[in-house]
Amino acid sequence: MKGLILSGGKGTRLYPLTYTSAKQLIPIANRPVLVRVIEAIRDAGITDIGIVVGDTAPEIERAVKQGSQWGVNVSYIHQDAPLGLAHAVKISQDFLGNDRFVMFLGDNVIQGGISPLIGEFADSVYNAQVVLTKVDQPQQYGVAELDSDNRIVKLVEKPKEPPSNLALVGIYMFDHHIFEAVNAISPSWRGELEITDAIQWLVDHHYQVHPYIHQGWWIDTGRPGDMLEANSLALEELTPIIEGYVDRESEVDSRVTIERGAEIINSVVRGPAIIGQDTRLVNAYVGPFTSIYHHCVIENAEISRSIVLEHSEIRNVSHRIEDSLIGRHVVVHRSPIRPRAHKFTLGDHSHLGLLGESGT
Ligand code: DAU
Repeated sequence: MKGLILSGGKGTRLYPLTYTSAKQLIPIANRPVLVRVIEAIRDAGITDIGIVVGDTAPEIERAVKQGSQWGVNVSYIHQDAPLGLAHAVKISQDFLGNDRFVMFLGDNVIQGGISPLIGEFADSVYNAQVVLTKVDQPQQYGVAELDSDNRIVKLVEKPKEPPSNLALVGIYMFDHHIFEAVNAISPSWRGELEITDAIQWLVDHHYQVHPYIHQGWWIDTGRPGDMLEANSLALEELTPIIEGYVDRESEVDSRVTIERGAEIINSVVRGPAIIGQDTRLVNAYVGPFTSIYHHCVIENAEISRSIVLEHSEIRNVSHRIEDSLIGRHVVVHRSPIRPRAHKFTLGDHSHLGLLGESGT
């Protein structure tokens, strides 16, 4: 089998973080979502992987290269515009040939890996297998309707009135018949070739499309809130390890990972949390569900339930920072220069939550 990862698209819902960088490279518990996807495919025994890339191709290629770091062999497939998930399959036909393959959306994080479902599909006669899971807001996803024998009868993309609460998780398995389907369908109202329409075509033409119900957690990391939620869930599963330096004055609890070269000086870290390589905490508090990536400084400041990306600095901030997603090379500090006022350099679409005068 082969693997196909979709990492094109623009990530508009994660602006401003994704103006200049790929959303699939944002780390969850200090491991980029795309790396998690590559490892999940590799752990299922698949090493031949194609990655569909768009505008952010240079950044993704720089980070993943040929994939040897993860023991896989990566080919890149360039998509000129995000014309839909089925369009991505269409342009990948040369790479996929007649092999059965798993397609995994590069912004999805799933608990427990995909080995069981790959095993089930590889040994089956199914033409396709789709992964479904129960969700509270099905209208935000592709939704499947099953009959009383658990066979798929209908698939709809982001329906206003969902026929069920079973969402399509961004993991699909196909044989070569999918190419007939993607060539037969037309673009939807939003101008995309929808994978749900292609799968519906398979169902309507009596191909075997098997539903696999996923029981663990799954997160489509499209929005900042989803990122923080995925980060919390991934931190809960981390096996803690202390590889950096913790001084005697510091208090680091048992569910904390301190990566190589990190220094914890006179600080408190409460888990689950991870402190990245060569990051320094000085007189700081890092609370539960926080991931600080590599080469950051947190000094005289408190932060919890947040993600801080590489090379950022937070110094001398009197109120605790919470529920925040902080980008790369960001500086948050108390300004020594008068007037005493909030001073910002914020990118387009930034969000800033300030405390009221009374501290409420
Ligand atoms: O996350 C699950 C959902 O993913 C499913 O329930 C939906 O049925 C499916 O259509 C998809 O919906 P999204 O609106 O979340 O898809 P999004 O546009 O975010 O794209 C998902 C990934 O695929 C993302 O990593 C970008 C990449 N992509 C997307 C498009 C449209 C491409 O590589 N090329 C594309 O043309």
